[in-house]
Amino acid sequence: MSHKTEIIQGDCAEVLKSFADNSFDLIVTSPPYADRRAQTYGGVKPEQYVEWFLPRSEQFLRVLKPAGSFVLNIKEKAENGERHTYVLELILALRKQGWYWTDEYIWHKKNSYPGKWPNRFRDSWERCLHFTKSRKFKMNQEAVMVPMGDWAETRLKSLGKNDVVRYDSQVGSGFGKNIANWAERTMAYPTNVLHFATECGNKNHSAAFPKALPEWFIKLFTDEGDWVLDPFVGSGTSVEVAKKLARNAVGIDVLAEYCEMARDKVEDKQLALLQKRAKYGVTHES
Ligand SMILES: C[S@@+](CC[C@H](N)C(=O)[O-])C[C@H]1O[C@@H](n2cnc3c(N)ncnc32)[C@H](O)[C@@H]1O
Repeated sequence: MSHKTEIIQGDCAEVLKSFADNSFDLIVTSPPYADRRAQTYGGVKPEQYVEWFLPRSEQFLRVLKPAGSFVLNIKEKAENGERHTYVLELILALRKQGWYWTDEYIWHKKNSYPGKWPNRFRDSWERCLHFTKSRKFKMNQEAVMVPMGDWAETRLKSLGKNDVVRYDSQVGSGFGKNIANWAERTMAYPTNVLHFATECGNKNHSAAFPKALPEWFIKLFTDEGDWVLDPFVGSGTSVEVAKKLARNAVGIDVLAEYCEMARDKVEDKQLALLQKRAKYGVTHES
């Protein structure tokens, strides 16, 4: 079955107006961060960030299906010795707009640049905020299971009597555990901390996702044939991954050069070459 991928140039606030309500199963994106990259595409002041974002997220809310998810990769910077609060303000504003703030995943950047600051350590994580339209949403937890590793083996060697029978937690939470249940299992559910290395070096976009990041969320929140949207698509990573995973995808970027870069990734290269040759009358390799 063939899947559709489309890259559209424009401001996502405007472009999305031409899409019907409830069109997408997942929105996964990394927007311009406040005050970053003012020379190219960013430059929204931290104080105006929420105001800038809300008309766009209003469209996201409209085009997302009721059981869909919106994953927002973002991180506030530090200035004058403290962190900005615009991401926290954005979370509150999005809740008021009608989103559920379902969870927060941490992207641990395994290979972040070393450095030294007088008042903090190097920043090696970003937020991936998970918003939904309702409390019931699609989540394929089995699709992102991880190998148990040797945790179970080590832990099971020293089982206490509380580990082998289900018992009520002593803190009265009503939850119990039976670690012996894990004895035969080879796979476990992951945590909400994702350890991926950045891949900026080979990408021509200064803030590109590592492929593993959108891949994890696409597997978790969509099925084959579902629709994925990245409204700030940049170099096209998320759409490229969605295509590879047999999902339909739409990417939007305000800059023509990024749209070109993204199209290069998702277009059928052979077909594009044949079309170019037909256009210019070239019939063989020169
Ligand atoms: C952080 S980058 C995204 C990088 C992307 N995740 C990747 O893997 O390459 C943000 C992108 O948003 C685009 N952008 C900024 N304002 C926009 C707007 N109003 N509508 C659509 N795209 C916009 C920028 O041109 C930039 O490419």
